[in-house]
Amino acid sequence: MPRYLVTGCAGFIGSTLTDTLLAEGSEVLGVDSFTDYYPRAAKEAALKDARGHPSFTLLEHDLTAGSLPESSLEGIDGIFHLAARPGVRASWGTGFEAYVDDNILATHAVADAAGARGIRLVFASSSSIYGDALAYPTAEDTSPSPISPYGVTKLACEHLVAAHARDSGLEYVALRYFTVYGPRQRPDMAFTRLVAALVADREFEIYGDGRQSRDFTFVGDTVSATLAAMRGSSTGAIYNVGGGSEAALRDVVSLVEELAGRPLKVRYGERAAGDVRRTLADTTRIRSELAWEPQTDLRSGLAAQLDAAGALAPSAG
Ligand code: UGA
Repeated sequence: MPRYLVTGCAGFIGSTLTDTLLAEGSEVLGVDSFTDYYPRAAKEAALKDARGHPSFTLLEHDLTAGSLPESSLEGIDGIFHLAARPGVRASWGTGFEAYVDDNILATHAVADAAGARGIRLVFASSSSIYGDALAYPTAEDTSPSPISPYGVTKLACEHLVAAHARDSGLEYVALRYFTVYGPRQRPDMAFTRLVAALVADREFEIYGDGRQSRDFTFVGDTVSATLAAMRGSSTGAIYNVGGGSEAALRDVVSLVEELAGRPLKVRYGERAAGDVRRTLADTTRIRSELAWEPQTDLRSGLAAQLDAAGALAPSAG
């Protein structure tokens, strides 16, 4: 039975990956420090199924406070490093220090441990490293130019892992996830807020004119790309993970109203600092090298997220 270590196992993507690995028959050692970025209760809820599974063990450990305990690395076949301080908007000002710690310092500790033990590493990077990209669709060799402190830390992590690989021979793959959504999405992200506003009959605030667009990626597709990266033979590779569902936020609002069968109150506010205008992944590389392609379009993925929140209109199911 393969045994994997998943950092950030209580997070949105980490918990979904953990559940998938367990369902496939793998053992999972989940590592999480339950940072204060959002409430622990939401993370505990995401981990509920895993915690009841006999092949799951939780290690509550802060990667910024020291390396992974030696014993945790025994018999590990691969490390999925998803632990991070996510989110673009909170990374400005005094918030930045925690991004340096939770992203750069934590990745250094994980790459160190993986390199020393010869354990393959899959690292979760972000489309934020491209900033307002120089070309669309954006291929992996496009010059990175992050416009948020968060994006800068993710780019630094990519370089850090590559430096470790040169030094220790660490085998790794970096994945640039494009705005992931679906059930368990983090509470600070657009779709979760939008659905919460709809359910509570409150206003949803759109930052800016709502014409910003994202290549939204369903969490199930993100997890399958992450598994393919661990199982593929490449090392040192970087792959875009984009869902192929580019949409402007305004159009998402209309789609949600249709799926929920009721109108959403919308208010337009200031554009958020560090917010890119557009993302669109060129996924040629991951399609050809890992035979991965997204399976869930925006309509079905949004329906799944609405359904999980009890907000899907019966007629839309
Ligand atoms: C997301 C994640 O939060 C990052 O952690 C991730 O690294 C990044 O995707 C990525 O792809 O690299 P973002 O695209 O900002 O970042 O995702 P959302 O929070 O879902 O926001 C989508 C859009 O909706 C943004 O333009 C944002 O400004 C807007 N938004 C968000 C609102 O208008 N109102 C809100 O209440 C929240």
